[in-house]
Amino acid sequence: MEADLEDKRLVLVSNGEPYKHVYRNQDIEIEKLAGGLTTGLDPVMQKNKGLWIAWGRGEADFEVVNQNNKVMVPDEDGYPLKRIELTDKEKNNFYYGFANEVMWPISHTFISKANFKEEYWQSYQKVNQKYAKSIKEELKEDDLVWIHDYHLTLVPGLLEESNTKTSLFWHIPWPAWEAFRTIPWREEILEGMLAADFLAFHTDLFVYNFLNCAKKIGAEVDFSNKEIFYQNSKTKVESVPLGIDFQRFNNLAKDDDYLAQAESVKASYDTEKLIFAVDRLDYTKGIEERLKGIDRFFEKYPEYQTEATFVQRVAPSRMGIEEYQQMKERIEKKVAEINGKYQKDQWVPVKYFYGSVPQAELLPYYKAADLALITALIDGMNLVAKEYLAVQDLGVLLLSEFAGAAEYLDSALKVNPYNTEALADSIYQGLEMSETEKEKRLQQAKADLKEYDINWWRDYFLKKWVESYE
Ligand code: UDP
Ligand code: G6P
Repeated sequence: MEADLEDKRLVLVSNGEPYKHVYRNQDIEIEKLAGGLTTGLDPVMQKNKGLWIAWGRGEADFEVVNQNNKVMVPDEDGYPLKRIELTDKEKNNFYYGFANEVMWPISHTFISKANFKEEYWQSYQKVNQKYAKSIKEELKEDDLVWIHDYHLTLVPGLLEESNTKTSLFWHIPWPAWEAFRTIPWREEILEGMLAADFLAFHTDLFVYNFLNCAKKIGAEVDFSNKEIFYQNSKTKVESVPLGIDFQRFNNLAKDDDYLAQAESVKASYDTEKLIFAVDRLDYTKGIEERLKGIDRFFEKYPEYQTEATFVQRVAPSRMGIEEYQQMKERIEKKVAEINGKYQKDQWVPVKYFYGSVPQAELLPYYKAADLALITALIDGMNLVAKEYLAVQDLGVLLLSEFAGAAEYLDSALKVNPYNTEALADSIYQGLEMSETEKEKRLQQAKADLKEYDINWWRDYFLKKWVESYE
């Protein structure tokens, strides 16, 4: 497969940038962003090089770029990142507004959280044009333009005249027509996307939902071959579930320094069982529902009081949106309530940390945790679930039935995150599971994660993309 790509350059375009530059004391430092898209694709670009185009959101981002707004990341041996500048108005109306108050809630079927403002749509169109212009400035013959996610649905359409090969990977769920149809600009969005040669999603359900939406706006759809014919062009659609850099995580799990860090994390909590969760602050992640489950767990299984500690890390996200600020307050209130109810002597049932940390700082927690709670209300994939399993040799993953990852991780313990009683019981079941059972489940999961890793994902995606236009 890679031979086919030798003369082609990958131009990866997303709104989220893989690295930002920030001021630290008197210096400028580089930071990796939290989020599955950027943590997932950075290893692909480190290997393939090419060019990444994204919004420069770091406070010092434009201090370090050259006259073409480019900088090599993470260092001179890495790959070029071209930064797009957004005005404050665009940040509010395009990023917080249309992307995160229309596309995000609707894609996750939270219709009542959507805010369909005309000025958001105006800005979304303008910023998509800005991206398209920036891409066109860079285009060389034979480039492959690889667009990512819900911020940039109009870009394939805007590049159509330049005869470029374009594909789009959708990192979040694609909803049923009943949800998607509520967007006043639904046809324009689909038209933009259908100008791409190839579209991919994490699961078969999202593919089906997308094909159905295309049919509803009048496209001719071949459901069995997953092909859409619209305005004289053909688009191939596939499910290509994002994998992780399994080898990296697996090697880490054998590293002495890492193991020592994990031990020291465990020791610092002075607890028999460590239960762990980490999420971006988002209503889709089910943090509030999870806390209800934890509350019920300590109530129903009091023998675990003083024996188990729940560590919840939350990475700040989209704090310009009121919904997110209010959710943070509710989460913190609930943590205080649980701690007030069960705390005994030195033991605190929930340890809550708010703040984004580099992935390297999270990884010892993965290893230290006896049980990981990934209980999203809905999620495109959820890479944390995969990362946790990859470093574990005796832990249990309690996974929401509604995360894309659940489609692929048969061996995880599954739960309906809305069911508080089931959450409490599953936490208990996870903590009580026999070693043989845990090992059996982990072995199966690791074999899958190894086979369908990030290299498989890249190769399979590119193969299907090239086939779609050949
Ligand atoms: N992550 C991180 N620092 C944090 C929180 C999360 O580096 O403080 C990483 C985590 O390791 C994972 C990604 O961010 O690779 C989150 O991806 P996921 O698919 O689980 O969720 P998303 O945030 O994309 O919805
Ligand atoms: C999810 C989305 C990404 C997004 C990330 C972080 O992973 O799929 O497109 O970049 O969340 O969200 P943010 O709003 O900070 O870019």
